[in-house]
Amino acid sequence: MSPHDDVEEILLDTETIASRVAELGAQLTADFGDRDPVLVSVLKGSLVFLADLIRAMEMPVSIDLMEVSSYGSGTETSGQVRILKDLSGPIEGRHVIVVEDIIDTGLTLNYLLKYLADKAPASVRIVCLLDKPARRLAEIPIDYRGFTIPDRFVIGYGLDYDERYRNLPYIGVLKPAVYAGAPPEG
Ligand code: IMP
Repeated sequence: MSPHDDVEEILLDTETIASRVAELGAQLTADFGDRDPVLVSVLKGSLVFLADLIRAMEMPVSIDLMEVSSYGSGTETSGQVRILKDLSGPIEGRHVIVVEDIIDTGLTLNYLLKYLADKAPASVRIVCLLDKPARRLAEIPIDYRGFTIPDRFVIGYGLDYDERYRNLPYIGVLKPAVYAGAPPEG
């Protein structure tokens, strides 16, 4: 039984992701090269993207990790955001780059941006690997975007369904049979 068996279709293969992440890293290097930014990433889905992105940035960077929950083991975004893990260091006066795996309704990031703004950073920019604009409820100023994808529930490259599939090396669409009945709404 392999996690690959539950994939209906590969949306973005490993090579496509790698070359886009390299481009994003080069862009961030050009824009932030001498600013000593702190990359604030949101666990757990962004972990794989963050790991690859920082290695594509040829400059000094630091990272910090937050964990928030916008929904439980299901897939529906509630708009209720709870901080499970806070920043470990101050960001006052720092250039912050928020690293997100996917922006769907935008409610999670909308909350997070206000939270970060209260800590008086010098600037906040957003890099997201996947933009799923179809169900956007909060307007998010995305500064760096990997890919725009259709309104489908995706897994792999860090993204999960019920905590599984994060280790798939590509981004794929989950077979409907896996969530039998209620379609995930991400
Ligand atoms: P938002 O608040 O609706 O923008 O949701 C953002 C979070 O929902 C992401 O950081 C993911 O953890 C999760 N999410 C949204 N869409 C998907 C998806 O297609 N697959 C897996 N997780 C998703």
